[in-house]
Amino acid sequence: MTNVTSTWIEPADSATALLLLGRGSDPDSERGVDCPGDLPAPSDPDLVARAAAAKKALGDRVFVLGHHYQRDEVIQFADVTGDSFRLAQQAAARPDAEFIVFCGVHFMAESADILTTPGQKVVLPDLAAGCSMADMAVLGQVQTAWEHFEDLGIAGDVVPVTYMNSSADIKGFVGRQKGVVCTSSNAKRALEWSFEQGSKVFFLPDQHLGRNTAVLEMGFDLDDCVLYDPHKPNGGLTDQQLRDARMILWRGHCSVHGRFTIDSVNEVRERVPGVNVLVHPECKHEVVTAADYVGSTEYIIRKLDEAPAGSAWAVGTELNLVRRLALAHPDKQISFLDRTVCYCSTMNRIDLPHLVWALEELVAGRVPNQITVDAETASYARSALDQMLLLP
Ligand code: 13P
Ligand code: SF4
Repeated sequence: MTNVTSTWIEPADSATALLLLGRGSDPDSERGVDCPGDLPAPSDPDLVARAAAAKKALGDRVFVLGHHYQRDEVIQFADVTGDSFRLAQQAAARPDAEFIVFCGVHFMAESADILTTPGQKVVLPDLAAGCSMADMAVLGQVQTAWEHFEDLGIAGDVVPVTYMNSSADIKGFVGRQKGVVCTSSNAKRALEWSFEQGSKVFFLPDQHLGRNTAVLEMGFDLDDCVLYDPHKPNGGLTDQQLRDARMILWRGHCSVHGRFTIDSVNEVRERVPGVNVLVHPECKHEVVTAADYVGSTEYIIRKLDEAPAGSAWAVGTELNLVRRLALAHPDKQISFLDRTVCYCSTMNRIDLPHLVWALEELVAGRVPNQITVDAETASYARSALDQMLLLP
């Protein structure tokens, strides 16, 4: 890493820095597969020039979207960067681009396919860029849970809400049941809307975003929330627990944000006097409660933009973004909340060789790694996504 500011301290390497997700061959799930093409070598000194040349050759035919957690080497070629909400909006707003190259993860590319016109093609440079959280909710498991709610006679009171970080199948299920998609920037508004439609919410797949939003932003008690474990009969809950609950949280979590602990918060407060702790709502409830500020990726970026010079911040979200923010604000002391490295391994799958390969394939008239969602799933998922885009 070059260009490091005087205050940025690179976290130490750790054995679990890159969790090995996305192995194997299972294209129907969020798990990825090996690259089907001839990847350029990472050591090729011409990679930057090749990506620039391919992008230039494609001109307005291609639009490259880059999630904030992407590597710098990839972000430099993004036409737009953003969180998952902004990227979904941007994909929908580019009907003239023949190809949307999505530098993010599989569920985001699926949402882009759902929101773009039928003639547009969405490309994910590496199919192994899945999401371990999205993998934690599989359609069959969710249907089993819903059938149990129907048997109990509570399904009519329950509004399903799914985080953007879920497969198109799950979004389709939620659309069929007249629910809504949310992101970390609009989860409160999505819950407010949902509690106008019914008395209970079934929140998928991130228990932490659901709990943190309900308790810290909507005034619910922790006792109003129950945890539905898809690997246990009836979710591991009694009928009475399900009848009494206001929030039924799916047992899913983000393996990256789940790494931050209360010890990291205490440690940084001791080490950096006056530090502001700023975390993403995918972190555990105890971490979010101990932090000073909590919000989506876009909120974190805004908060640091607005922070006064000289202020100190410890940020609990993905490392590529935190490092970029620290380098962009050399007048502020910005550190990573954990002492060890913590990347999203699947976001990191999209590297410059994969981007070069995907762009050069498009130039050659071939469409690599196209992400498509079947028409029926897409139409139900679209109604849940449109409901999100309509939230006040
Ligand atoms: P946002 O992009 O909604 O902030 O979500 C963070 C994340 O984990 C994306 O995978
Ligand atoms: Fe999934 Fe977490 Fe990675 Fe986001 S940061 S893609 S939620 S594993």
